[in-house]
Amino acid sequence: MLIDTYDRVATDLRVSLTDRCNLRCTYCMPEEGLQWLAKPDLLSDDEIVRLIRIAVTRLGITEVRFTGGEPLLRPGLVSVVERCAALDPRPRMSLTTNGIGLRRTAAALKDAGLDRVNVSLDTLRPEVFKTLTRRDRHHDVLAGLEAARDAGLTPVKVNTVLMPGLNDDEAPELLAWAVEQGYELRFIEQMPLDAQHGWKRDGMITADDILTSLRTRFTLTEEGDGERGSAPAERWTVDGGPHRVGVIASVTRPFCRACDRTRLTADGQVRTCLFAREETDLRGALRSDAPDEEIARIWTLAMWGKKAGSGLDDPSFLQPDRPMSAIGG
Ligand code: GTP
Ligand code: 5AD
Ligand code: SF4
Repeated sequence: MLIDTYDRVATDLRVSLTDRCNLRCTYCMPEEGLQWLAKPDLLSDDEIVRLIRIAVTRLGITEVRFTGGEPLLRPGLVSVVERCAALDPRPRMSLTTNGIGLRRTAAALKDAGLDRVNVSLDTLRPEVFKTLTRRDRHHDVLAGLEAARDAGLTPVKVNTVLMPGLNDDEAPELLAWAVEQGYELRFIEQMPLDAQHGWKRDGMITADDILTSLRTRFTLTEEGDGERGSAPAERWTVDGGPHRVGVIASVTRPFCRACDRTRLTADGQVRTCLFAREETDLRGALRSDAPDEEIARIWTLAMWGKKAGSGLDDPSFLQPDRPMSAIGG
């Protein structure tokens, strides 16, 4: 079991499959991209499957989410999913993606055993998409979303970050669209995880701003307290239901106390938190033929060092060295 000194138990593993991406979202990375991890430093598919096997058979992990960068850029994704689906116990599996590659892969991923997807989409306006992501791929994301829904990778969730002056007027429009399409929309507060370290608290659209904007057009009813559990999204029913909208208020209403997550980077480091400043190497152990027990022991010890929270409100808060795209969201 992955337990920490605050009695939290990690049952949810987020695995980053690559730090690369085919978009360049302005709140994430610069136009020229980043210094990508070198191929030999990346875990192989076999190494990833082995770590997931150890996590589900020895450490109590029940949910696995594949992230990136953009996880659909990893050639072996479908086979990794298929091999994980054969594990006993079988973990629930999901994917967080920018959606561009989904039209091509959704059906194969579903067949391989993936349960559901979360797709990032910040705007319904192709021109704004181009400004925000620096790529002209809006149409591909919409097609990817449809492919995911058609393939049954449901519920399909859509993650939206609102940026001042760009898409912050679009919240009601996005919600009307998501309700019509049958996607569950979640708005995410921008976090200080951009590669350029440009985040400023007073330049951020808050959960309260978002709710105020949505309430100009919809009646929102907060779901009962108990329902959030360890999920980062607080949820509201829209106009009496059944549709819902979520807000992930990592900055103004953090959910650290109920955190049930552990993370693995594409180069085989355990991170106990998105905002952790330390990492624990598992790749070295894998490559020096450590037995499963030893790898499980190193992982367990790493989680024991998990901090109480993100530390975002501490005056001494320092952004982690790795950006979001290399941590895995
Ligand atoms: P669901 O199980 O579908 O609710 O997934 P999720 O919301 O946990 O995952 P997703 O990958 O879609 O992430 C949505 C947003 O939540 C992203 O901006 C993540 O960076 C953020 N997020 C995920 N895990 C954590 C976390 O442990 N802490 C914080 N602060 N934010 C997180
Ligand atoms: N703050 C909040 N969300 C972010 N994402 C990427 N960078 C940030 C950030 N700095 C979002 C992506 C995607 C999800 C995994 O995280 O848009 O939807
Ligand atoms: Fe790529 Fe996601 Fe970063 Fe956008 S936020 S550049 S989609 S990794």
